[in-house]
Amino acid sequence: MKDFKRYTITSALPYANGPLHIGHLAGAYIPADIFVRFLRMNNKEVAFVCGSDEHGAAITIKAKKEGITPQEIIDKYNAQIKESFEQFGISFDIYHRTSSKIHHELSQEFFLNLYDKGEFVEKYSEQYYDEEYHQFLADRYIVGTCPNCHNEGAYGDQCEKCGTSLSPTDLINPKSTLSGKTPVLRETKHWYLPLDKYQAWLEKWLLEGKKDILKSNVYGQCSSWLKSGLQARSMTRDLDWGVDVPLEEAKGKKLYVWLDAPIGYISATKQWALDTGKDWEKYWKKQENPADDACLIHFIGKDNIVFHCIIFPSILHAHGEYVLPENIPANEFLNLEGDKLSTSRNHAVWLHEYLADFPGKQDELRYVLTSILPETSDSEFTWKDFQARVNNELVAIFGNFINRVLVLSHKYFDGKVKAGGELSDKDKLVLSELERYPKTISSSLSQYRFREALAHFMNVARLGNKYLADEEPWKLIKTDEDRVKTVLNIGLQIAANLAVLAQPFLPHTAEKLFQMLNFQDRDWTAAGNPNLLENDHQLGEVQLLFEKIADEQIDAQLAKLAQAKVDNAKTQTSTAEPAKANIAFDQFTLLDIRVGKILTAEKVAKTKKLLKLTIDTGIDQRTVVSGIAEFFNPEDIIGRQVSILVNLEPREIKGILSQGMILMAEDADGRLDFVAPQSNIQPGSVVR
Ligand code: MF3
Ligand code: ZN
Repeated sequence: MKDFKRYTITSALPYANGPLHIGHLAGAYIPADIFVRFLRMNNKEVAFVCGSDEHGAAITIKAKKEGITPQEIIDKYNAQIKESFEQFGISFDIYHRTSSKIHHELSQEFFLNLYDKGEFVEKYSEQYYDEEYHQFLADRYIVGTCPNCHNEGAYGDQCEKCGTSLSPTDLINPKSTLSGKTPVLRETKHWYLPLDKYQAWLEKWLLEGKKDILKSNVYGQCSSWLKSGLQARSMTRDLDWGVDVPLEEAKGKKLYVWLDAPIGYISATKQWALDTGKDWEKYWKKQENPADDACLIHFIGKDNIVFHCIIFPSILHAHGEYVLPENIPANEFLNLEGDKLSTSRNHAVWLHEYLADFPGKQDELRYVLTSILPETSDSEFTWKDFQARVNNELVAIFGNFINRVLVLSHKYFDGKVKAGGELSDKDKLVLSELERYPKTISSSLSQYRFREALAHFMNVARLGNKYLADEEPWKLIKTDEDRVKTVLNIGLQIAANLAVLAQPFLPHTAEKLFQMLNFQDRDWTAAGNPNLLENDHQLGEVQLLFEKIADEQIDAQLAKLAQAKVDNAKTQTSTAEPAKANIAFDQFTLLDIRVGKILTAEKVAKTKKLLKLTIDTGIDQRTVVSGIAEFFNPEDIIGRQVSILVNLEPREIKGILSQGMILMAEDADGRLDFVAPQSNIQPGSVVR
């Protein structure tokens, strides 16, 4: 990695709509924190910024579900999330909020900058408008009679009596909740970022320029996005929660959450600079001499790749004054006990619950998660593995070594570092190995290989542990006290090196160790030095670094997850539709279902629910009309795999011949998702 003087490090802003779990930590926060702590130890200037993402449907949906206001939701979860980060030692320089004034202003400034440059493409569609209030109505500002159950108080998005999900145009006798008058259909305008226009630039900057820089999982996703061709994406929404679009003609409209959220990195930096007397522009803007530009790195999970590699860089590029990300080290997903982490199914290890169940054991979780980070592919957390890694590695190796060397030093030499005598060949070998480790670890860290870096770190502890076990100072003391002085001196030097090297990974443990050693030299350059502790240095008091995790603690966690499964099954069976009558196998084989890929997607004019899709079925490319527009933006689903029933009699829908049907799963709340393969499967593959 190129050497920079100044770094701007971001971690994805979590939606303030729920607590954090281990998947969050392993995705975007632990790796970033290790990296940042490492940079700081190397005396780099760093701004490590994050904050709550407090806009978008994620927030309003949760507010509706909990029956409180969006403001109450974001206040509640912002506080909880912030606390969890602090507890786990995620050392942000600032944890900010996108609901703040400084953020709203900066987002609007960005929008206007692009608007004034004429970057946006303006497009129209039809929506209800209140003529008295002179504004477009968000779905929930329209009431009318439900076409399904004739409830007169149905909302534009849903009838709460019968549960049917609706479009405003489905309502009989619609009324505006603002004026009480009948709204009229009017064209509404939205502002689109012309990603197609930036395609060539993106290919050059990203695919050519970052071929050897990006992680392969990130590069692969980007090149497949670019291959399927970029389309303009709307940067505004007709919503009532978010940042106002700063245009007179766009009254009542909000910025698209994925426009404002990444700008949250910048507004957070601005606030931090205000609070600490720094110059935020040095961290974000291109400098007169390009060599002075900050190195911008986004730590994210894989679901955020397109936003950080394609959309946000396009915005920064269109603006022109900002630096572009140097790297975007996205992680894959972490699974739990053989299953995907799931908030809705409560299949998760929640950080606030972990803290209550394992008080003071933050570093233990940091250690285990770092050991299994999903750096190149999805990985798996299990409680048994957690226990094994804590007991067999942290306790039995690292903790045991530290405890032995310190306890013996107190017992034999009143806690003093004694000058060593002549070094044996073995001693020299151990010390030269010790000297090499900091370089090895740095090299892994600067390539974002945190698992590997941690493994090297543990090898230092192993080195110390083995050295003591081989030399057996507790036996030697009876015959050769001078030799024990040498052995313990070397052991203590290794311990001091461990304190320095542990800082990025295990900050709480490193702190304890510094106290126990009564030692303060924290810079990375200190590490590798076989004489960190001077002769006659007085050590501090011995404490236990780690304790074993008991079987009962693990059993309790497993029982908790099992209980969540039971609770979940209960609510699911109660809402699932009853099974249909049996059919013969031959009847099933009549269905010809294939794996397909979405090539194009666009809204069907004058409808709210329909998308017109072109599907590569492997057999041909065909048009399908699908009722999924309320759940998916056309631009989000291009390139996605689907299952398609290819031998369904073609039907005409809104004047379009639909040739087949996309298979969708629908839950009891009417939410839709694609039924599709998990990995890349050739279009035309048979589903049976
Ligand atoms: N809130 C988003 C998520 O949880 C991440 C936003 S990252 C940012 O998926 F760049 F937009 F800030
Ligand atoms: Zn109804």
